[in-house]
Amino acid sequence: MSPARSSDVLVVGGGIIGLVTAWRAAQRGFTTALVDPGPGGGAAQVAAGMLAAVTELHFGEETLLGLNLASARRYPDFVAELTEATGQDLGYRRCGTLAVALDADDRAHLRELHALQVRSGLESEWLSGRECRRLEPMLAPGVRGGLRVDGDHQIDPRRLAGALVTACERAGVVLHRTWAERLTVTGDRAAGVVTTDGTELTAGQVVLAGGSLSGRLAGVPDDARPPVRPVKGQVLRLTVPQRYAPFLNRTVRAVVRGSHVYLVPRENGELVVGATSEELGWDTTVTAGGVYELLRDAHELVPGITELPLTETRAGLRPGSPDNAPLLGPTALDGLLLATGHFRNGVLLTPVTGDALAHVLTTGELPAEARPFSPLRFGATAPTELPV
Ligand code: GLY
Repeated sequence: MSPARSSDVLVVGGGIIGLVTAWRAAQRGFTTALVDPGPGGGAAQVAAGMLAAVTELHFGEETLLGLNLASARRYPDFVAELTEATGQDLGYRRCGTLAVALDADDRAHLRELHALQVRSGLESEWLSGRECRRLEPMLAPGVRGGLRVDGDHQIDPRRLAGALVTACERAGVVLHRTWAERLTVTGDRAAGVVTTDGTELTAGQVVLAGGSLSGRLAGVPDDARPPVRPVKGQVLRLTVPQRYAPFLNRTVRAVVRGSHVYLVPRENGELVVGATSEELGWDTTVTAGGVYELLRDAHELVPGITELPLTETRAGLRPGSPDNAPLLGPTALDGLLLATGHFRNGVLLTPVTGDALAHVLTTGELPAEARPFSPLRFGATAPTELPV
């Protein structure tokens, strides 16, 4: 029997943001469908999974901080609920993070970040270089100081994505494993999509959650089109042999020559090293230069890294927005909502995005914490039409 072609809610895009939206919508009693050729794929297959509300705080992003913290607070219950619903371990590790400085300039920058964190009421402790190395003996002897943030944890995004697919299936979400080609509009209202195989899917409400591709769905009027762009990130995966364990006890990060580098140690021995940040359009090539820079910077931080097997190299695309914050909720087109533009914080923002979209789908209003992220804060954008 072919799957139902009509639903209350249709989610376009099956990355973690689309999946959590569909799962939460189905839990609210909406008949829900999702369209994506490979649900559970996308940027979550590349991301390191840092839940770094405090250590990824940037100047000028204090509004986003509120949403990031709200999502971080929800993580323990979210993980418990998703684990209960699926029986799957998500690799959630409450390990904390250490952000360190390698030279005087880095140290000055980290001091400023610390002051901003303290002004923002966040828990972050300044440590000397020696104190950093006492916590993490593999750190380079030259480390000049650091910030200990015990509240910035991690999750394995691949496991998260897999569990969300299972949760959606168990909640009755219909998964259409194909591309959405064009949004259909009836009168002044979004009515569904036509897929690349010509199937017409209709819905009362359509949520566009296509990550970096969200701006490319044909048929979206210019004043409702999300202004997202791809920001490439190359990421490495290494393995810590048992004889070296524990190599690191917590996430370790630094800014080296202006680039962010982080090392995220999983309980299963995987060590994720990320990430480049490149504005190269739709390119997902892993380059010698990208791998070299990541290994060079990670080696400056933790010299012993060169002993570890390098097991995977991969590049993904972050959905960047003009203010680095997500676009959540209704657009200028009735019946079309957005859940995209999460940029560096997609994994962190998964719980709060699911809750915010469930709320707005049910009531028509965004919850208070999500209101600053309405897509209506941006004007119309230039059209670029391709399948999502
Ligand atoms: N949040 C880490 C990154 O985007 O690289």
